[in-house]
Amino acid sequence: PEPPVEVITIDGPAGVGKSTISRKLAARLGYTYLDTGAMYRAAALSLANRGIDCSDEHAVVGALSGVTIELLPAADENDDTDVLLNGERVGALIRTPEMSMRASTVSAVPAVRCILTEMQREIGRRGKIVAEGRDTGTVVFPGARHKFFLDADSVVRARRRALQMRERGETVDEKTLLEMTVRRDRQDSERAVAPLKKADDAWVIDTSTRSIDQVLEAILAVVRSDE
Ligand code: DC
Repeated sequence: PEPPVEVITIDGPAGVGKSTISRKLAARLGYTYLDTGAMYRAAALSLANRGIDCSDEHAVVGALSGVTIELLPAADENDDTDVLLNGERVGALIRTPEMSMRASTVSAVPAVRCILTEMQREIGRRGKIVAEGRDTGTVVFPGARHKFFLDADSVVRARRRALQMRERGETVDEKTLLEMTVRRDRQDSERAVAPLKKADDAWVIDTSTRSIDQVLEAILAVVRSDE
């Protein structure tokens, strides 16, 4: 068995506040933030750029085998993870609504999960990691020291996302956003391999009526009670 390393996992549906909370948690603890969704987004972009059909598993594996995906720590606490895809910065390109949906579709391909899960475990072996995604507590790091599952009403999640996008100066239609969020969650929850699911031993935190700081403090209380 591998020696225990310090890994905290945070899973949950889209727009629940996982990224913000994981980034802040990692900063508070001096851990590395592992944004697994950014890796699925980068893989989706790489396949889309080359017009690879996701239903052709053989082609997908071939296309991804030579690809390098590196996560760059955000310069600012409020920034999303930047990603180097084959050495090229693609942070902005992977954050579009279209790429969110494509990432969800690509992530249902078993071979893609296999490749990315291995990359994530490799990073995890260094220890002191806050891993964030859909299956980090169930599949990637089943032996994680602390697991959390964040949840919130889909209407609240879509509203928050809309607010976030407006702050960045983008125009958004909240109704479309809600539909896309629901569709993506369904796709992520219903896939056969490593679906979005709460780990049996995860703490559930509903973020609908809690601020980011309240959620952060709740998580820190659990982590510290164990030190
Ligand atoms: O967390 P995110 O919105 O950046 O993730 C984009 C998509 O990637 C998400 O809809 C499903 C997929 N994903 C996954 O299947 N497993 C993960 N651990 C993280 C993301």
